[in-house]
Order: sequence, then C-alpha cells, then structure tokens
Amino acid sequence: MFDLDKLVRPNIKALKPYSSARSEFSGSASVFLDANENSFGSPLTKWYNRYPDPLQWELKRKIQAIKNVPAESMLLGNGSDECIDLLIRAFCEPGIDRILVCPPTYGMYEVYAQVNNVPVDFVPLRAEDFQLDLEGIEGALTASTKLIFLCSPNNPTGNSLYREDIEMILNNFDNLVVVDEAYINYSRNRSFLSELKDYPNLVVLQTFSKAWGLAALRLGVTYASPALIDVLNKIKPPYNINAATQEIALKALEGLEEVNSMIRETVQERSALSDALAALPFVQKIFPTDANFLLARMTDATAVYEYLRDRGIIVRNRSNVLLCDDCLRITVGTPGQDEKLINALKEYTNA
Ligand SMILES: Cc1ncc(COP(=O)(O)O)c(C=O)c1O
Repeated sequence: MFDLDKLVRPNIKALKPYSSARSEFSGSASVFLDANENSFGSPLTKWYNRYPDPLQWELKRKIQAIKNVPAESMLLGNGSDECIDLLIRAFCEPGIDRILVCPPTYGMYEVYAQVNNVPVDFVPLRAEDFQLDLEGIEGALTASTKLIFLCSPNNPTGNSLYREDIEMILNNFDNLVVVDEAYINYSRNRSFLSELKDYPNLVVLQTFSKAWGLAALRLGVTYASPALIDVLNKIKPPYNINAATQEIALKALEGLEEVNSMIRETVQERSALSDALAALPFVQKIFPTDANFLLARMTDATAVYEYLRDRGIIVRNRSNVLLCDDCLRITVGTPGQDEKLINALKEYTNA
C-alpha cells in the first residue's frame, strides 16, 4: 500500500519551511516594505525589483487550462532537473534509501542521486528493443527502493516504453514511480498525466525545454498528488522560478497552436532526416524514435563525430553508453541545419 507519510524523510516531515515575506502576505497593498527589496527599482528594468510569486499561481493556472491537471498538483522547477533533485531529497535518506534507473537513460537521475549520497540500482533496458526488463526490475527492488525513474520517450534511445509495463510497475510498486515525459509532445502516445487520479504513487515530469522551445528559461513541471506536491513545496528554494521566466512562459502558453504546428514540423523533419541518414553507407541502423532526436548506429561513430565536429557540426557521441556502441544521438534540426549535416556526411562517404 502506498503511504506518502511513511515515504517522506523524517527530517523533511519535521521541517518548518522558510516563510518568505511574499508568502505571508497575499492581499493588495500600495506600499511594500516587507521583503528588503530595492524600493527604487533597477535603473535598467524598474519592475524586476520585487520578488516573484513563490508558488507561481498565475502560471500554474494557465498550465492547468492546457493540461487539465489542477494547479495544486504541480510543482514548477528550475528545469525538470530541479524537480529530479527535489524528489530524491524529499524521499531518499542519504546512504540508506535507493533509486532504480534503467540505462541507457537520462544521466541526471544518477547524478542527483550521487550528489545526495543515494545509492542507485541499475536494471538495463532489454538489448533487443530498449524496453523495460520487468523481471530484472522486480529482482532488483529492495525495501529501501524509494523511487523508480522511467523515461518515456527515453533519452538517448528515443523510444517510448510500453504503457502496460509502466502500469504494471505502478500497480505493483508501493513507492514512487517517476515517469519523465520530457519528449512526450513528439510522440503519438498518451501522457501519463491522465493517470494521476488513479495512481497516488505516480509522478510525471515535463519541461518547457523541448516542444515549447524554451530551454534557456529553465522551467520544468512535476505533476503529482497535491499531498506529494506539498512535500516538495516545503523544500524547494522559495523563489526558484524567476519573474522573467514566469512572464515569458505565461506569454508562450498563449501560443499553443504555434507550438503544436512546430511539433508537427519537427516530426516531419525527423522522418526526412531519418531517411537521409539511412541512405548513407556507413549508417548501420536508425532506432525508432518518438522524440526530437534520433539514435543512429554507425560503422565508426567516433570517427563520424570527430569529422562533423571539425566541420562545426556537433552531435552527441553516445558510443561509450551501455547498449549504444557506435551510436550518435542527433537532434532534429531545422531543414537548413539538417541539410548541412547531410551534405557534410555525404562528403564523409566520399572522403
Ligand atoms: C529525459 C530528460 N529529462 C529531463 C531533462 C531536463 O530538462 P530541463 O531542461 O527541464 O531541466 C532532459 C534534458 O535533456 C531530458 O532529456
């Protein structure tokens, strides 16, 4: 049985969170002398002298209108990277509790676990299809496993994990299952957001860094039960989402149609790029992808990587990553960028 109260680290449960000036007063007033801000304002941009809303309600309500998830079920993070860190810090007692990840996958789960001195158990994806090894996961779980991180579509392989497998884990694992959906907008598969009501142990991560095209703003979203979000709110830095990010994201959310058409364009370009790469003699395999990147196996990935780098085209060499021997991860570019890539690679063939 899932028991949030038992899952939270005792010190976090006992913690009296910092109470900021802006969270203690929420009415309207004409003079604010409560937060030691600069009352005169910056000579550059007058309106950035005030601390932003610590809980970003306006932004969350706007996200609610699009995602159909209550604002109380969201925690905004300084990138979804911050969300990953907060989850580990809230629920894993350093040196005792563990997380489980399924490599090859996004590297920051392991990094934040290490930063927090939380041991990591690795159950590799199946070599034949990059899907979850359910038996392996079952065998690797311990009483101290607090979080399982599942990335779907997965980075760097690009594929979506089978929905039934994720559901199987949600139904049988009593602690938290984090489904990282950074790339969900590029996939035909349904998000797990619609399952939040049914699974108290489900946490979904999304980000503004990919489909929304706002990586520089650093804005990620954790979706979970309001009770779980309350725990994360206790430990997050009070003003973790700055005012400029909140303002720009609010504006961006008005452009949903444009974002959707950019997603369609990216998906089309992904298939053109995939076809062009597949026609090159030194490309052995392009793995199926639901993301805005492709994993491609080369005859000699490092040689291709270095060749491209020397021509000012940077892709990601994943050759040293488990199950990704001789693989490059290539982000889908604009048609012009992809043309440059393909032209360079055609010359590699002739070199
Ligand atoms: C699977 C996955 N999750 C999370 C992130 C981090 O996203 P953010 O920019 O929101 O920190 C990335 C970034 O590449 C990613 O690939």
